Amino acid sequence: MTKILVTGGSGFIGSNFILYARSHQLAEIINLDKLTYASNPKSLVQLQNDNGYLFQRGDIGDSNLVLSLLRQHQPQFVINFAAESHVDRSIFSPQEFIQTNVVGTLQLLEAVRAFHQELSPAEQEQFRFLHISTDEVYGSLNKDDPAFTEETPYAPNSPYAASKASSDHLVRAYHHTYGLPTLTINCSNNYGPRQFPEKLIPLTIFNAIHHKPLPIYGRGDNIRDWLYVEDHCSAISLVLFKGKVGNTYNIGGGNQPTNLEIVTKICAILDELLPKPNFHYESLITFVKDRSGHDFRYCVDFSKIKRELGWQPQETIDSGLRKTILWYLNNLDWLEQCKSQNYDDWVAKNYGGKA
Ligand code: NAD
Ligand code: TYD
Repeated sequence: MTKILVTGGSGFIGSNFILYARSHQLAEIINLDKLTYASNPKSLVQLQNDNGYLFQRGDIGDSNLVLSLLRQHQPQFVINFAAESHVDRSIFSPQEFIQTNVVGTLQLLEAVRAFHQELSPAEQEQFRFLHISTDEVYGSLNKDDPAFTEETPYAPNSPYAASKASSDHLVRAYHHTYGLPTLTINCSNNYGPRQFPEKLIPLTIFNAIHHKPLPIYGRGDNIRDWLYVEDHCSAISLVLFKGKVGNTYNIGGGNQPTNLEIVTKICAILDELLPKPNFHYESLITFVKDRSGHDFRYCVDFSKIKRELGWQPQETIDSGLRKTILWYLNNLDWLEQCKSQNYDDWVAKNYGGKA
């Protein structure tokens, strides 16, 4: 059976992808993860007796460890999800983002390049390194600007986006210079089960359940393009098996709600699924100081993957939000686990100055 070395598989998208890959019998998985605050031990607990899943704690920046894992397991594919991924944290501590997203990706590429050189020509032909990146590398759009295509010039605005842009450039360079068979995905904001409650959607659900304020930066008119994580997983699998080597693929959810609209929708779904007498969750909405350098709008043109690989999102924002909220309501212990990851310290640090 196909083997995939997944990095960062204990985080949000990585854990969803591993569960998707195992349930669809796509491949056996080796998951290399440093287990930062963003990982959750409960996310993959259902695979504890699965012989097709193996976990190794470690850093993508440890090229000796990566190379020994590659030699031991001989995977056909590597998918790199490992990253520091939260814009607000990158504003407080950009160094950690450079360390993992730039230096770590470089070290990972070095180990993968060494392994690739050891393979037979037939194995080299089959091998792929898939790098998961973001639409934020393209910068910010105004209301009526056309969506980001794969040709949109890079213009990252946050330390997070700059670090991801750097990693994309390294991946591109390893393809052009060393012939490493790479693929890159630039996707929009993901949402769904198992996302750490620092990002807008899980944070809103988490705070609403606890009757805490729902913080909206600025006026709430910023726009994101929301992609349900399982739609992303199906795109990842298509790009991995059928994508053209050296190419990048943009992936989006095909919607453009404002942040205020998203939070209002979550409140309306909670009014229905978790009703409280004489209370509407919307009353918890609180406007707070804006994020520094806050990108106004992201919008992804996914016509390339639609045309070449036949992919398009299956969930609408309404169906995806409902599934997401139901998952969190049925997995409150998962959410509570996040509280042990210095969560209150982060909330005080980020929101203390925004009141
Ligand atoms: P996440 O923060 O939920 O998880 C990241 C995972 O990487 C964690 O399990 C963490 O322990 C691990 N990790 C961090 N540093 C590591 C290191 N040095 N070595 C090994 N493991 C390490 O992130 P996510 O939301 O799942 O995002 C996954 C990837 O997708 C990231 O590269 C991110 O930039 C990209 N992306 C995310 C989104 C989104 O909306 N979440 C959108 C576009 C792109
Ligand atoms: P986020 O989920 O952090 O993703 P990103 O910054 O990578 O797009 O934020 C999504 C949007 O929601 C973004 O415009 C910032 C905004 N936001 C809030 O208004 N309040 C919050 O508490 C958070 C975390 C985000």
